[in-house]
Amino acid sequence: MTVQMSSDTETTPTSASDDQGGVTIQLDGKTAQVPLRDGETILEAARRAGMTPPFSCEAGNCGTCMAKLTSGTATMRVNDALDDDEVEEGYVLTCQGTPDGPVVVDYDC
Ligand code: FES
Repeated sequence: MTVQMSSDTETTPTSASDDQGGVTIQLDGKTAQVPLRDGETILEAARRAGMTPPFSCEAGNCGTCMAKLTSGTATMRVNDALDDDEVEEGYVLTCQGTPDGPVVVDYDC
């Protein structure tokens, strides 16, 4: 008798999808939504959505790209512009912030 071991070699990647939910961007009274891409910053997502968000240094130093997360969270690679209170209120440097999941970002706040 042959006993066949389970051959569950077809694994499903859990993080291979580049569409993990939406990035909703509100800017100049307009709203756009794009699928979230792994590792993409909010600023990059806003540009991909065809918007022209404000930015300058793109290094986390100036605060020009600042926006407020009204839903969801993001992780900033560098933050040399916002103080702790602003971060607690939901403000994010969009040039450094990568969404942790679906987010709504308001540049008009
Ligand atoms: S563009 Fe300067 S902190 Fe984002």
